[in-house]
Amino acid sequence: RTKLKNINHSLQKKLKCQNLNVIVTAGPTQEQIDPIRFISNHSSGKQGYAIAEEFVKVGATVTLITGPTNTEKPVIDKIQEVKTADEMLNCVLKNLPADIFVCAAAVADWKLIPFQAKGGKLNSKIKKKLNKKCLMFKTTENPDILKTIGFHNNRPKIVVGFAAETDDLIENAKSKLKSKNADIILANQIDQKNQVFGSDFNKVSILEKNKLQNFEKTNKQK
Ligand code: C5P
Repeated sequence: RTKLKNINHSLQKKLKCQNLNVIVTAGPTQEQIDPIRFISNHSSGKQGYAIAEEFVKVGATVTLITGPTNTEKPVIDKIQEVKTADEMLNCVLKNLPADIFVCAAAVADWKLIPFQAKGGKLNSKIKKKLNKKCLMFKTTENPDILKTIGFHNNRPKIVVGFAAETDDLIENAKSKLKSKNADIILANQIDQKNQVFGSDFNKVSILEKNKLQNFEKTNKQK
C-alpha cells in the first residue's frame, strides 16, 4: 500500500511537470585574457546538473546550458556547452520561452582586458618579458544573466537564482531577489563548514519574497 502511494505520488508530480519547459544554467564561465589564458572560478557544475536531472525525473523538458566542467554530464536530451558569459546569455535567450529558469551557473562577473601602459591593447599571448609595470588589466562587466532574464519581456513564470556568499548571506540574498527580479534565491554560505565548490553536498537557505526556509546540509540532488 505504501509502495502504491509512493508511485501514485511520483506519477502525480510527473503529470504536473510534463508540460513544463525548464532552462538550467550550470558550471563556471571562462573569460579569455589572451589566446592562451582565461579567468574562471571553482564551480563544478554539480548543483546545476543535479537540479536539471531532478526536473527530468518529474517529466519536464529540460535544456541544460553549461560552462566548461570536468563533471560527468547528466543524461539529458538537450545539453548546450558554452564558455563565456556572453555565450551563456545568448544561449539562454535562444532557448526562451520557458516556464522555469534556474540560474545555477557561477558566471564570471568581469572580463579582464590586458593592455600595455605604452602600447595599447594586446591581442596576442602576453609574454613574461613584458615589463611588469607596463602590463595592466582593464575590467569590463559581464552581462548579468539572471537579471536580464528576470526583467525580460519573455520572462519565465519562475526565475530562480543562487547567492554564494562569505558574509551577510541572507541580506545579500534578499537584495539579489529584488535587484534581479527573481522569485527564489538559494543562498549558500561559503565557509569552512560548507565547502560547496566541487562537493556533492550543500547547505542552503531558500528565500522567497515573504518566506525564508533554512535547510540542513544535504546532497545537491535533494
Ligand atoms: O554573482 P552573484 O552573487 O550576483 O550571483 C547571483 C546569481 O546571479 C546566481 O544565480 C548567478 O548565476 C547569477 N549571475 C548571472 N550573471 C552574472 C553574475 C551572476 O546570471 N554575471
